[in-house]
Amino acid sequence: MEPKAKPKENKAYVCYCNKVDASTIESAIRRGCRTLGRVFDATQAGVGACGGTCRPFIEKMLEQYEKDQTFPANPRPGLGPKSGLKSERRLSNKPKRPR
Ligand code: FES
Repeated sequence: MEPKAKPKENKAYVCYCNKVDASTIESAIRRGCRTLGRVFDATQAGVGACGGTCRPFIEKMLEQYEKDQTFPANPRPGLGPKSGLKSERRLSNKPKRPR
């Protein structure tokens, strides 16, 4: 029997408030955290000052893992050099729509 391949580390932050990267969340899910609440407890992701803007991305990771035991390659798309957005702060500075 061949040794199981070690999962690739993904050091991209999913939760900017608490600086939790994708690998940390993936590891928690593999260890059995299968709900948002369990991931919050294990990693502190999703319970930061912004109120949880990362939660939909964590949910997506949970859903994909539930479906086929894999994780999205880019769990939090939209940030980074190619997107033109450099930080979460820039996202939050979008003008609010009038009500
Ligand atoms: S980005 Fe995760 S709680 Fe703010």
